[in-house]
Amino acid sequence: MTKVQATNITWHHGHVCREDREKLLGQKGVTVWLTGLSASGKSTIAYTLEHALMERGHLAYVLDGDNIRHGLNKNLGFSPEDREENIRRIGEVAKLFTDAGAITITSFISPYKGDRDKVRELMAPGDFIEVYVECPVDVCSERDPKGLYKKAMAGEIKNFTGVNAPYETPDKPELVIHSDTCSVQEAAVQLLELLEKAGKIPAPKE
Ligand code: ADX
Repeated sequence: MTKVQATNITWHHGHVCREDREKLLGQKGVTVWLTGLSASGKSTIAYTLEHALMERGHLAYVLDGDNIRHGLNKNLGFSPEDREENIRRIGEVAKLFTDAGAITITSFISPYKGDRDKVRELMAPGDFIEVYVECPVDVCSERDPKGLYKKAMAGEIKNFTGVNAPYETPDKPELVIHSDTCSVQEAAVQLLELLEKAGKIPAPKE
């Protein structure tokens, strides 16, 4: 539990509400939370979806684990406590983006169920769509685009998810993408359909 340090603070309401922004954008704010092992395809799917949404005239934005760890979360490592704080901060950022009306796509391993559930609880019902990008660890370690599985297996990286740190599979994600058998384009189509069904974006005009 994060200790509350700030006192004497007041919540300010603006003159423009979320609905105003959503009307302007022609979409509903939402967080599409991609979770899965490193090299499972989360980031590739996230950026493909962002591009597909842009082509349909929607505002989407990707919050990506590796990128966020270059800035906002550069002071965090990969211990369970640091991952918890990583996901807590991103949950808060995603909530703000969602309130701004953006289709917010997050790409974090987010290995702990409890941390993901806390983000779901933080958001209004329907604002959080959990997507499990499922890929067997053998396939991920064969892909190994950053050479990290090799290093972890050689004992050069501690706490590497899937090798010497756990990944807790989601119980009831809104969608499971089997990224070992489905193409990136197919994954993006599944996500677009999910967003349409959830009423976040309109179906494309014929
Ligand atoms: S999370 O577990 O806290 O959600 P996050 O998604 O931000 O992780 O970062 C994961 C990325 O950091 C991986 O894709 C990989 O490139 C890199 N990384 C470096 N060390 C580790 C590690 N010990 N475990 C997992 N990923 C690591």
